[in-house]
Amino acid sequence: EDSRIALPIGTTLDRFIKRNQDDFQYATGELSQLLRDIALAGKVVNREMNKAGLINIAGAIGTMNVQGEEQQKLDVLANIRFIRALTKGGEVCAIISEEDEKVIDVDHSKGKYVVAIDPLDGSSNIDVNVSVGTIFSVYRRISPIGSPIQKEDYLQKGTEQVAAGYLLYGSSTMLVYTTGAGVNGFTYEPSLGEYFLSHQNMTIPKDGKIYSINEGSLFSFSEPVKRYLEYCREETYSGRYIGSLVADFHRNMLKGGIYIYPSTAKNPNGKLRLLYECNALAFIVEQAGGKATDGINRILDVKPTSLHQRVPFFVGSKNMVEKAKVFHEMIH
Ligand code: AHG
Ligand code: MN
Ligand code: MN
Ligand code: MN
Repeated sequence: EDSRIALPIGTTLDRFIKRNQDDFQYATGELSQLLRDIALAGKVVNREMNKAGLINIAGAIGTMNVQGEEQQKLDVLANIRFIRALTKGGEVCAIISEEDEKVIDVDHSKGKYVVAIDPLDGSSNIDVNVSVGTIFSVYRRISPIGSPIQKEDYLQKGTEQVAAGYLLYGSSTMLVYTTGAGVNGFTYEPSLGEYFLSHQNMTIPKDGKIYSINEGSLFSFSEPVKRYLEYCREETYSGRYIGSLVADFHRNMLKGGIYIYPSTAKNPNGKLRLLYECNALAFIVEQAGGKATDGINRILDVKPTSLHQRVPFFVGSKNMVEKAKVFHEMIH
């Protein structure tokens, strides 16, 4: 009998997690607690985000992260909030963050899970009041609890994820996640401090007429990418590129579309990071009936070799990602 009880829209995140507990294989409540810890940190970041124009947390802090990017105050603030919430929650043994060069050994003596996180996605948009997000990916620890964290714990293929999700701090703040039993979206009601189920069992349209790519790098795109973009123009698709992956991805989830960050002269392997951007959204989009490739290969099958490795990213409606792949196979 299907363990997922059809809940009325408006169910809170907590009740939803409790009711769907048995969807989490092997978990006896720890994964539920982990999701709650992330949701809590999202509330805190959301509140600080809403004040960005008023208190002095906009702008850069004058430091660079391991990506060679200028860290924004909210990059660092969000990073601290999520690391603190995950550390206090006690379910996590290690964290990989965009903003930290090395793996954070939270507590290898007890936590069952490893979390890879992009604490603030779309940082360039913070100061101009455009939607930004958080992206997270959850793995089970492989090495025995109590021993030091090993590479095998934090360089796992995307197919090994037990959960993944994103927060979108937009016109309304949402939490969207999967534990491998479909995708569900929750909208945050700040006056009640609760997330309410607003998008049950999300599925991405098989086709779409929206493409998201930074065409400023057109001259350095490969032939297959250029040919696919010509195809999009011949089909008179709409170009929509926000500069926040989470915002472009979420819109495409609801309306259908494809987001592409291909190899460019500046970023030969693309700009997006496999562990805390591409794998998480690839898991979500596949659970919603969509696809995610590096142009040709399935993202979730890529074996990671380093924490911050980048990978070309084609993600969204199944037929659109497959069409883009055809152009890659024709030319190669
Ligand atoms: P982050 O802010 O976490 O570093 O990620 C930014 C990413 C993604 O959110 C966005 O789509 C892309 O960078 C924009 O890159 P370009 O400015 O090169 O188009
Ligand atoms: Mn960044
Ligand atoms: Mn990002
Ligand atoms: Mn980021």
